[in-house]
Amino acid sequence: MALTDFDLVLFGGSGDLAMRKLLPAMYARDVAHDLPPGARIICVGRQDCGQDEFLRTVESNAKPHIKSSTLTEAAWAKFCQRIVYASLNATEAGSYAPLVAALRTDAALTRVYYLATPPHLFAQICDNLAANALVTPNSRVVLEKPLGRDLASAKQINAEVGQVFAESQIYRIDHYLGKETVQNLMALRFGNILFEPLWRREWISDVQITIAEKLGVGNRMGYYDTSGALRDMLQNHLLQLLCIVAMEPPTSISSDAVRDSKLQVLRSLKKFTPTTLAQNIVRGQYRAGHVDGKAVPSYRDEPDAPQHSRTETFVALKAEIDTWRWAGVPFYLRTGKRMADSLAEIVVRFKQIPHSIFAQPTSSFQPNCLVIRLQPDEGLRMNLMAKTPGDGMRLKPAELELDFRESFKTPRMDAYERLLLDVLRGQLTLFMRGDELEAAWEWVEPILDNWEQNDNAPIPYTAGTWGPAAASALIGRDGLQWREEALPED
Ligand code: BG6
Repeated sequence: MALTDFDLVLFGGSGDLAMRKLLPAMYARDVAHDLPPGARIICVGRQDCGQDEFLRTVESNAKPHIKSSTLTEAAWAKFCQRIVYASLNATEAGSYAPLVAALRTDAALTRVYYLATPPHLFAQICDNLAANALVTPNSRVVLEKPLGRDLASAKQINAEVGQVFAESQIYRIDHYLGKETVQNLMALRFGNILFEPLWRREWISDVQITIAEKLGVGNRMGYYDTSGALRDMLQNHLLQLLCIVAMEPPTSISSDAVRDSKLQVLRSLKKFTPTTLAQNIVRGQYRAGHVDGKAVPSYRDEPDAPQHSRTETFVALKAEIDTWRWAGVPFYLRTGKRMADSLAEIVVRFKQIPHSIFAQPTSSFQPNCLVIRLQPDEGLRMNLMAKTPGDGMRLKPAELELDFRESFKTPRMDAYERLLLDVLRGQLTLFMRGDELEAAWEWVEPILDNWEQNDNAPIPYTAGTWGPAAASALIGRDGLQWREEALPED
C-alpha cells in the first residue's frame, strides 16, 4: 500500500534513537522510493539551534548509521530537505509555536507523533499536543519503550495517553515484532499444514527462547541500572516472542485478531507462587571476563555504575501456559548481556519417538528440533534423524536448513523501517495493544516484588559465558539442556 503525504514528528529528535535508528530507517525507505514527495520529518528538540546546525548534527550522528551501499550525496541532500527542526520544551505547552508553525494544516494529511522520550514525559506531551489543538483525527502516536516499570505505571501511561488518543491511534513499539523472522514464524505456523497439528503438548516437549548479547551496557547505565534485564528484555521482547510461538491461530492477520490471540497467551501464563519464584527464576550480573578474546570490565565497574548495584544483566526463567494446548510444556526464556555469543533464537523441541524398530535404542535418537533463528543469520533449521550412507542401518541426526538470505534475494528491511512504514500506513498488527501491555506487566510484577522484598542479589557470572551455572541447573532439573550445551563441540 503506497503511503500518502505525512508529517512525522520525532520528539527526542536529536536523541540517540532518532540518530541511530529512526532517521536512518526513514532514509532507507526514501531511497527505496517508499516516501511520497510531500513526506516530512519534523525533529523536535530542546536545543535552541537553527535548522542548519541541526542538519550538521544529523550529518555527523545519523549519517554514519546509514548503509554505505545506499548512500549517495544526491539522495542524502534530498532526504535532508524533508527534515525540519523545531526547538521547544516538550513539557511547556506555551513553547509549542515552532511545532505549530512547522506542521501542515491539511486535515487529510497523516500526522505521526513519535515519542522517543523517557516515559514520564508521555502524558505531558500528549496534553500539550491537545492544548495546542494538534491532535487531528488523522493523528497517531508512537510510544517507545520502556512502557512503564511496573503494572501501575503502565496503567497510568495507558490512561493518560488514552485521554488524548483513541486506542486505534496508539502504536506501542516492540522492535522485536518488526524483525523479519518473527513474521516468518507466523508464516511458518499458519501458512503450512505441516506444523500446526504437531504444535501442542502431545508432540512438543519444550520451547527455549534466547536473546543473548555480547554487548555490555555501554553508555546507557543511567537507564539500564534502574531497569535490568527483566524489564528491559523479558517483559517485552521475550514475552512477545513467546506469544507468537504459543498463540492460537488468529482468525486473520488483522490487528485485533492477532492481538486477541496474544493476549490470551499472556493471560494464560501460570502465575508464580513463592515456591516457583524461588525455583524457576535465575537472576545474574556479569563480572569481568573476556568477550571475543578482549578483557571487559565487571558490570559494577562500567562507567557510572553504582558500586553495589543489584541490577540483573541476565535472567532465565521457566514459564508455563495453562491451556489445553500447552499445559505441562515448559517454556524456558533467557536473556543476558556480555554473553558468549550474540544471538536470538527460538528452539521448539519435539518429543522422543515412542519406540525404536532399529538396532539402536530409542535413547540414541535425537528428538526433532526446530530452530527459528532471528539473528544474526535469519533462518530455520530442522533436525531430523537420517540413515548414514553405506552398509547397515545406522541413524544419525541430520539437518534441514532454510537460510532466508540465500532463499530470498530481495533486499532486507530493518525492524524500525518496517514498523515506521506500518505506523504511516495505519497498520497496528505489529504493535502492542494496551491490554496486552498490562497483562505482560501483571505476570512479571510478582517477580519484581519478590526481588525487592527479599533484597535478592543477582548471581555473578563471568562475562563471555552463558550466564550463571544456576541457569543450566534450572533446565537441567527437567532433564534438559540449553541448546548450545546440547550441541557437539566443534
Ligand atoms: C532493546 C534493549 O530494547 O533491545 C537493549 O533496550 C538491547 O538493551 C536491544 O540491547 C536488543 O535489540 P537487538 O535488536 O539488537 O537484538
